[in-house]
Amino acid sequence: MAVNYHDYLQLEKILSAQQTESDKLQTPAHDEMLFIIIHQAYELWFKQIHYELDSIIATMNKSPLNDNSPELQTAVHRLNRMATIMRVLVHQFDIMETMTPMDFLDFRDMLRPASGFQSWQFKELEAKLGLKFEERHGKEYYTAQLRPDHINVIKNAENSESLFELVNNWLERMPFFDDETAFGAEPFWQQYRKAYDNSLAEAEKNNLQLFDSIFFNDEPVITTAAQPDVSAAPTGGGCPMGYGSGTPATPQQGVTMKHLSAKASRAALFIMLYRGYPLLQQPFQLLTGLLEMDVQLSSWRYRHMNMVHRIIGTRIGTGGSTGKDYLKGAADKHYIFREVAQLNSFLIERRRLPALPQSVEAKLGFVHA
Ligand code: HEM
Repeated sequence: MAVNYHDYLQLEKILSAQQTESDKLQTPAHDEMLFIIIHQAYELWFKQIHYELDSIIATMNKSPLNDNSPELQTAVHRLNRMATIMRVLVHQFDIMETMTPMDFLDFRDMLRPASGFQSWQFKELEAKLGLKFEERHGKEYYTAQLRPDHINVIKNAENSESLFELVNNWLERMPFFDDETAFGAEPFWQQYRKAYDNSLAEAEKNNLQLFDSIFFNDEPVITTAAQPDVSAAPTGGGCPMGYGSGTPATPQQGVTMKHLSAKASRAALFIMLYRGYPLLQQPFQLLTGLLEMDVQLSSWRYRHMNMVHRIIGTRIGTGGSTGKDYLKGAADKHYIFREVAQLNSFLIERRRLPALPQSVEAKLGFVHA
């Protein structure tokens, strides 16, 4: 039978899935249709993001993943697609913002206690990317607001290997670290450490301690007033991603979780430093894709938060959270690949990079020595 557009897209189902509460209660509120459709559009795009992410996770799960194969290129391509979708989703708030606070008040109370907080696809996405339960802001809402079947979906994602964990394993397997004597911790990293130390301004000298703890120590990072935190949310000042600053974000007290092992951190830094070599280009694109995803998720959160502030001010959410304050906490805390961004604090100028042994150069350029 010939495929028909309407049937193929199952428009019968999709176009009859907008049942407004205000109509049911016979108090029509014009903007509720927009409110439903925009949420549905978001959820459809979240579904597509999951579809891409699942395929990337399946690829990264292959052991060993061939770094010199089309598979890695496909993973990078799909990661970029995920970020592109997120970029569009940030802009989609423009449409939502055509609804004024008064338009929303016409039907807001009819929605309680439904809330975007119950978007299990959104929370599942965070979990699949690598956000752990212990790292969540407002855990009390997380369990109180979601249905048990949806909590299970998220728990399953939390208990499976996340993209971040798989990236960590893949980094640890990087082939150029195979020969530890020629190119492992000694003497390359000692040379690099010295060059990094020389590049630090007087006020940044503490960074060397952090350098050692990130690249040579797998213990959880114990933060003190003098030692900047690498994964907890900064309490103020500085960029929460740690982008661009020689001195990483605000110091905090306590023990924090490490997602990247010392070996994986060395591999990631190496990729960032020597990304000009053909073999490192795709791995570099992969790391960049992770950061882009974090940036887009963060933009989404800030855009959503500002929209919420504009529409409901500082009132509590329909899901019962503190509203804008809760969203601000999650936005500050839920950077998933913060440790990858943090590595940029340990780059040095190209001209100061230690020369690579010829055998490694040959390996990186597909030329046999
Ligand atoms: C009038 C428009 C909107 C308002 C006033 C609003 C308000 C809120 C508030 C106050 C929260 C915090 C939880 C609560 O207490 O309810 C929240 C969470 C959330 N909203 Fe919205 N929202 C709006 C539109 C949207 C749209 C279009 C989406 C798209 C999917 C969305 C997705 C989410 C998600 C995923 C969360 C959970 C965030 C997290 O837990 O980190 N919201 N929203």
